Amino acid sequence: MMTVLQNSVSVDLGNLTQYEFLALNSPLNLSDGHARQELTAGQARIVEELPALWADALKRPVAEVEADARSAFFGLFGQHSYPRGEGRVLACYSSSVAMEIFARSLATVSDAIGLIHPTFDNIPDILRGVGLELLPIEEDELHHGDLDPYLMSRVGAIFVTTPNNPTGRVVPQERLRALAEQCARYDVVLALDTCFRGFDTRAHYDHYEVLRESGCRWVVIEDTGKLWPTLELKIGWLVSAEDVGLPIEKVYSDILLGVSPLIMSMVRRLAEDAAGGGLAELHEFIAGNRALLRSALADVPDVHFLDPGSRASVERIGIGSRSNLAVWSALSEHNVFALPCQKFFWADPARGEGILRIALARPPASLAMGAAALRTVLSES
Ligand SMILES: Cc1ncc(COP(=O)(O)O)c(C=O)c1O
Repeated sequence: MMTVLQNSVSVDLGNLTQYEFLALNSPLNLSDGHARQELTAGQARIVEELPALWADALKRPVAEVEADARSAFFGLFGQHSYPRGEGRVLACYSSSVAMEIFARSLATVSDAIGLIHPTFDNIPDILRGVGLELLPIEEDELHHGDLDPYLMSRVGAIFVTTPNNPTGRVVPQERLRALAEQCARYDVVLALDTCFRGFDTRAHYDHYEVLRESGCRWVVIEDTGKLWPTLELKIGWLVSAEDVGLPIEKVYSDILLGVSPLIMSMVRRLAEDAAGGGLAELHEFIAGNRALLRSALADVPDVHFLDPGSRASVERIGIGSRSNLAVWSALSEHNVFALPCQKFFWADPARGEGILRIALARPPASLAMGAAALRTVLSES
């Protein structure tokens, strides 16, 4: 665990979100993976429409508002075979809440889960929080061959983040099919976190079709929260197979009744805007910011871009033998905040040493200033 000084108070940092808190008030916050770029013209018009969406949401049945939001969002990403039945797609305040509900449900029938390694640390933290034992599945293993038979016989579910955070790696269609078929053979639930799906068209094949055809029991967590700069107004959708065999609806009802229909209407409108060209614009924007960061650091000795094929809204930078803490601290003196990667490696934090993650969903001017400061710090260390 690292110790840093904040307002002259020594703070022990336990997880990535605590680093992200430190960055929240800085205009040079390159830390969290939430969307903080400026609204596009189309999105700004939707914000202006909010009073009308409010009035409309008051008039219409919630179920109708929700079904329209689902159809627009899932359709945008090619997820046409998502389930339509009652209780199969549950709207949550955020994907972490969806995760908590899934985890609590799983803990009623199993005491262990296989989890992709590395991945964002609130996933292992939530799973551990309900008492599950976590067995790591290395990202490379996930992409090649069958998963370890011992692991598969030991766990109640395997959990895969695709595209993964922080690596951006996507599970391709045929690989998902193989994983789902193996889960079916072992009667293990296959759970997917697709929060970063929107950024990468390689993750836009119809996952629900593959899952249904495989015959496995499955859960998917979809998220509107990483894409659009909506001041944390978002939906995490918890989607499950009819025969999932977990008390998901009961646990959901223990925690919430539903998400605001105003947010659902906003999500519908943003998804429609995205379908009309906004998504391509977003992809170009992230690619432009990635190119900006890479070119700002291109000739700094012993600096590498670890995920050359990533299209996610985050970028990992290998900083060689420099220490994460030293670079993070020097950077914070410039008021620039990045994320050290130890905690992504939840089973072996030492493997995240020498790696920083930079958020790309930011105004290009802020990213350019942050990249310039990072260049200075890395060149001096
Ligand atoms: C892959 C992944 N899943 C889930 C979450 C949680 O999202 P939220 O904070 O909106 O609940 C995050 C957060 O960054 C994430 O990276």
